[in-house]
Amino acid sequence: MTEIQILALSGSTRRGSYNSALLENAAQLAPNDTELIIYEGLNNLPFYSEELDGDSLHPEAKKLRDAIAKADGVLLAVPEYNYSMTALLKNALDWASRPAGRHVFVGKPTAIVGASSSILGTIRAQLHTREVLHALQADTVPRPEVLVTQAASKIVDGVLVDDTARALLSQVLESLTTKITNQRLLQEAAERKAS
Ligand SMILES: Cc1cc2nc3c(=O)[nH]c(=O)nc-3n(C[C@H](O)[C@H](O)[C@H](O)COP(=O)(O)O)c2cc1C
Repeated sequence: MTEIQILALSGSTRRGSYNSALLENAAQLAPNDTELIIYEGLNNLPFYSEELDGDSLHPEAKKLRDAIAKADGVLLAVPEYNYSMTALLKNALDWASRPAGRHVFVGKPTAIVGASSSILGTIRAQLHTREVLHALQADTVPRPEVLVTQAASKIVDGVLVDDTARALLSQVLESLTTKITNQRLLQEAAERKAS
């Protein structure tokens, strides 16, 4: 039985995206009893507007919020555009961040990975994403940092062929599932104490 479900979001819709490929590889490397579900359709979200939120919530935003709420944890693959995350991913995080203070990312175990063609491998985009996740009160995995540099040599035909990067990807998934399990244990202990 699958005990842990992780929702994976890619910040790129490019055919042959290295970041989407990272998520496909992560699905193969996920620990036992863990299922990684790759979200489809971030590009169907309109740009965030309060006109489309609240009572008249856009259906694509509802779909995203429901998927995050249902998942035990979230894995973000973060491409770097102009030293930051892509607008696609920021838009998704903005949609997920409402209603303020009681949205689906509060306390949500979340991990970040990224691949880029440069030698810095999305570090700037990942740091910006960490700031945004801090604003969202997500429970973010601090280590390891998975920075796939010069991605064309490490992701070949969609396969992550670099051993170090594969090991780091496995480790970040382990860290994420450990965080999810620890959160569950704490919650169960709190429920026992309250009963
Ligand atoms: C508009 C644009 C801006 C970019 N800016 C950066 C950047 O600041 N840093 C970087 O490492 N790569 C940058 N790149 C290169 C991307 O890392 C590269 O295109 C990568 O493959 C995008 O991720 P994807 O393969 O998942 O689509 C940029 C690419 C585009 C199209």
